[in-house]
Amino acid sequence: MAELGFDGRVAIITGAGGGLGRQHAELLASRGAMVVINDLGGSVHGEGGDVGPAEKVAKEIEAMGGVAVADTNSVATPEGGQAIVDTAVEAFGRIDIVINNAGILRDKSFHNLTPDLVDPVIDVHLRGAFNVTRPAWVKMREQGYGRVVNTSSGSGILGNFGQANYGAAKMGLWGFTRVLAQEGAKYDIKANAIAPVALTRMTEDMFSEMASLLKPELVSPVVAWLSHEDCSVSGEAFSCAGGRIARFFVGLTQGYFNPSLTIEDVAEHLAEIREVKDMKDFWEPTSLTDELAQLAETLGASGM
Ligand code: NAI
Repeated sequence: MAELGFDGRVAIITGAGGGLGRQHAELLASRGAMVVINDLGGSVHGEGGDVGPAEKVAKEIEAMGGVAVADTNSVATPEGGQAIVDTAVEAFGRIDIVINNAGILRDKSFHNLTPDLVDPVIDVHLRGAFNVTRPAWVKMREQGYGRVVNTSSGSGILGNFGQANYGAAKMGLWGFTRVLAQEGAKYDIKANAIAPVALTRMTEDMFSEMASLLKPELVSPVVAWLSHEDCSVSGEAFSCAGGRIARFFVGLTQGYFNPSLTIEDVAEHLAEIREVKDMKDFWEPTSLTDELAQLAETLGASGM
């Protein structure tokens, strides 16, 4: 197949001063995209700041013949998000792609999770995606084109001990993605999410023998395809790790229906409510509207 290029496209990659974001930015730039390397340059816990990482990656891309500009605003405030989009528009005149990748960790088991460990995590991951995507969305709607890639995580989709703050933010990003996909459809704006697994400073103590296989650059081709104009999917989420890509999906069992449902009915029919009897015995709603249409049918209602 012909090489997929990004000539003339402008991409913002948040948190691109290192780790996954840097790989996404380098791949897009190597295929012709003009990239905004956004990074606050703080610690993995979100403390401090440094212009160094963003500037270094932008210079490296330029040295390889690419086009990049560094930006050190924080995604965690609406003003920061606006400033990042302004950087793209001032440098390159438009904005086609937003890759929401910036992230921090403040892990603690839930009973010890004080607000100072919750708010900054929600602010960077979940509010950060709102803050950057909102001003970009205005431009994308005007031009009738856009691609948004949000960085979710198995920590939220599947749960991970000690990460109630992070998991909630990451699962929130999946909901955000699905709504953007619906609202963006008529403007050719596509939004998808990834749930990566990769060896970066964020995960350096997490993986044992598998660590060397989890190269961040093996996540970037997925992000790049979801950012490309040929991308044919929207509202979806992909697990990406070490070169394996798979789709996460939300399914519903056939369930149990009783028009005079009691508490005891729930208790007595729990198995039927929960179980997938065989792998064909579930369905995958594509939206809430889709689920409600099916519900109306089960309830014998004529419509929603
Ligand atoms: P990383 O720590 O190398 O990269 C995160 C970057 O975000 C850092 O360069 C940091 O300076 C930047 N950042 C933090 N707060 C910021 C803010 N307020 N404004 C702008 N930039 C900010 O870690 P990694 O692994 O590359 O993480 C990238 C994304 O992937 C994160 O959203 C993370 O939660 C997610 N992720 C990573 C996984 C992995 O296995 N590495 C697993 C699942 C999700």
